[in-house]
Amino acid sequence: MRFLQSAAVCVLAGQGASAAVTADLSNPAGIKAAAKQVAKDLMSYYTGNNPGDVAGNLPAPYYWWEAGAMFGTMVNYWYYTGDTTYNEITTAAILHQTGLEWDFMPTNQTKTLGNDDQGFWGLTAMTAAEVNFPELKKPAPGWLALAQGVFNTQAERWDLQNCGGGLRWQIFPFNNGYSYKNTISNGCFFNIGARLALYTGNTTYASWAEKTWDWVQNEGLIDEKWNVFDGTNIGDNCTAKDHNQWTYNAGIYLLGAATMYNQTNGTAQAKWEERVNGLLNQTVNTFFVDGVMKELCEGGQCNVDQRSFKAYLSRWLAATTRLAPFTAATITPLIAKSSAAALKTCTAGGGNTQCGLKWTTGSNDGSFGVGEQMAVLEITQSNLVAQTPDWVSAVKGTGNSTGNVDAGSNSATADSIINKPITTKDRVGAAFFTALVLIGVVGGSATMMISE
Ligand SMILES: *[C@@H]1O[C@H](CO)[C@@H](O)[C@H](O)[C@H]1NC(C)=O
Ligand SMILES: *[C@@H]1O[C@H](CO)[C@@H](O)[C@H](O)[C@H]1NC(C)=O
Ligand SMILES: *[C@@H]1O[C@H](CO)[C@@H](O)[C@H](O)[C@H]1NC(C)=O
Ligand SMILES: *[C@@H]1O[C@H](CO)[C@@H](O)[C@H](O)[C@H]1NC(C)=O
Ligand SMILES: *[C@@H]1O[C@H](CO)[C@@H](O)[C@H](O)[C@H]1NC(C)=O
Ligand SMILES: *[C@@H]1O[C@H](CO)[C@@H](O)[C@H](O)[C@H]1NC(C)=O
Ligand SMILES: *[C@@H]1O[C@H](CO)[C@@H](O)[C@H](O)[C@H]1NC(C)=O
Repeated sequence: MRFLQSAAVCVLAGQGASAAVTADLSNPAGIKAAAKQVAKDLMSYYTGNNPGDVAGNLPAPYYWWEAGAMFGTMVNYWYYTGDTTYNEITTAAILHQTGLEWDFMPTNQTKTLGNDDQGFWGLTAMTAAEVNFPELKKPAPGWLALAQGVFNTQAERWDLQNCGGGLRWQIFPFNNGYSYKNTISNGCFFNIGARLALYTGNTTYASWAEKTWDWVQNEGLIDEKWNVFDGTNIGDNCTAKDHNQWTYNAGIYLLGAATMYNQTNGTAQAKWEERVNGLLNQTVNTFFVDGVMKELCEGGQCNVDQRSFKAYLSRWLAATTRLAPFTAATITPLIAKSSAAALKTCTAGGGNTQCGLKWTTGSNDGSFGVGEQMAVLEITQSNLVAQTPDWVSAVKGTGNSTGNVDAGSNSATADSIINKPITTKDRVGAAFFTALVLIGVVGGSATMMISE
C-alpha cells in the first residue's frame, strides 16, 4: 500500500504553541501512534466503567446508540492496531447492553430504542464476529448470535401494512417517530443481512438484503443519481421524502452493496457492482471537498448525533476496499487525505489533542466531543486497512463465532413492552412530532431518537 507523505502537525510542548496529535501517516507505526492518542481522548469521555456507573452507557448528551457505535470503533481499533488496552472495557460494555433476550433491547432503553439504535449495537457485534474479537464468556452467546438476534427481531418488524414494506424508525408505538420509515434503520437491516449472508452462507439473509434494497430504491430513498435520502413518512403513504443527505446513509448502503457483490457472481454480481460504483461516485461528489470528507450540516449546525456520522462512512469505506477490491484505488487516497486533514483539528481541550468537527478547515473549529473524536479515530485507523487480515467472513470457512439462527426471535421482553398501554403524554408527544414532520421542521434532522 502507498502511504500519504508525512503530514506532521506535531508541535513540541514547551514551544508555547498548542500541542497536537503527532500525525506521521507515512508508516504503520505513525498511524498507530496517532490512533492511540485519539483513542485515549475518545475513551476519556466514557464513564461506564467507573464504580456505580452503568457499563455501556455514555453520559448525557450522548444517546445509547452512540455508545454502541463507539464500542464498534473500539473493536475496530483493536483489529487495526492490535492494541488490547480497551478490549476488556469494550467487552464489558457490550455484554451489559445485550438485553434479557440477547438482542440489544435492554429494558432501560425502551424510550430511546429505535431500529437504528438497536442496529448500531448489532453492527458492533457483527464486526466483532468478522474481525475475530475475543468471544464473550459463556453463558453469553457468540458475537454472531447477537447479530442474528438483532436481525431476527427486525425481520419480524418488516411492515407490509404501510408503503409496501420497510422498517419503521421506531420499534414501539409510544416513541416519537413511529410513523417515519427512515433510511438508516433499513440500512442497518440491509447491511447486517448482507454481512450475515457472507458470514454464514445462509441465503435467507441475502434474500432479505435484496428485498430491503429494492424497497428503499423503489421508494426513491436512493434515487437514479445514487443520492441517498433520509426517509419518508407513512402518513402520506411515503409520497413525500425527506431529502437531507448524511454520510452514514451513503456508507451503510455502499458497504452492504459491496458485501453482496463479494458473495455473488454472474449477472447478480454485475448488478451489485453497478450499485457499488454508483454509490461510491455520488458519495465522492456529495461528501468530499478536494478529497476531504465533510458532513453537509457542517455548513450550519450539526447536532450531537450528526457529529459522529463521518465515523461510520470512514469505517464502511475502509471495509468496502476489501470486499470490493476494485474500489480501493478510489477510496484509499480519500482515507489518506481526509485523515491527514482530520488530525490537524486535534488541538483542543486540556491536553490540546481533542479533535474538532470540520476537517476541511485545517484547524479546530471549537467543537469537540465523542462524535468528533470517534470520526477522527475511524478515519485514522482506516489507513491500516490494506495490511490488516480480511474479515473472517470473507475468507470461506474461517469464521468461528458461535451463532444461533433462532436468536432474539422469542422476545418476550419486547412483547410485554409493546403491549404496555400508551399514556396520554406519549400520544401528545407523538402527535406533536408528526406535526413537526409534516411542516418540515424535524424531518431530516430526525435522525436517531428524539424522545425524552
Ligand atoms: C438499568 O438501570 C439500572 C439503574 O440505573 C442499572 O443498575 C442497570 O445496570 C441498567 N441496566 C442496563 C442494561 O443498562
Ligand atoms: C402505497 O404505496 C405502496 C408502495 O409504496 C403502493 O404499493 C400502494 O399501492 C400505495 N397505496 C395507496 C393507497 O396509494
Ligand atoms: C456462482 O454462484 C453459484 C451460487 O452461489 C455457484 O453455485 C456457482 O458455482 C458460482 N459460479 C462461479 C463461476 O463462481
Ligand atoms: C459519477 O458522477 C458524475 C457527476 O454527477 C456523473 O456524471 C457520472 O455519470 C457518475 N458516474 C457513475 C458511474 O455513476
Ligand atoms: C471478497 O473479499 C475478499 C476479502 O477481501 C477478497 O479477497 C475477494 O477478492 C473478494 N471477492 C471479490 C469477488 O471481489
Ligand atoms: C476462532 O479462531 C481464531 C483463530 O482464527 C481463534 O483465535 C479463536 O479463539 C477462535 N474462536 C473460537 C470461539 O473458537
Ligand atoms: C437460515 O436463516 C434462516 C433465518 O434466520 C433460518 O430460519 C434458517 O434455519 C437458516 N438455515 C440454516 C441452514 O441455518
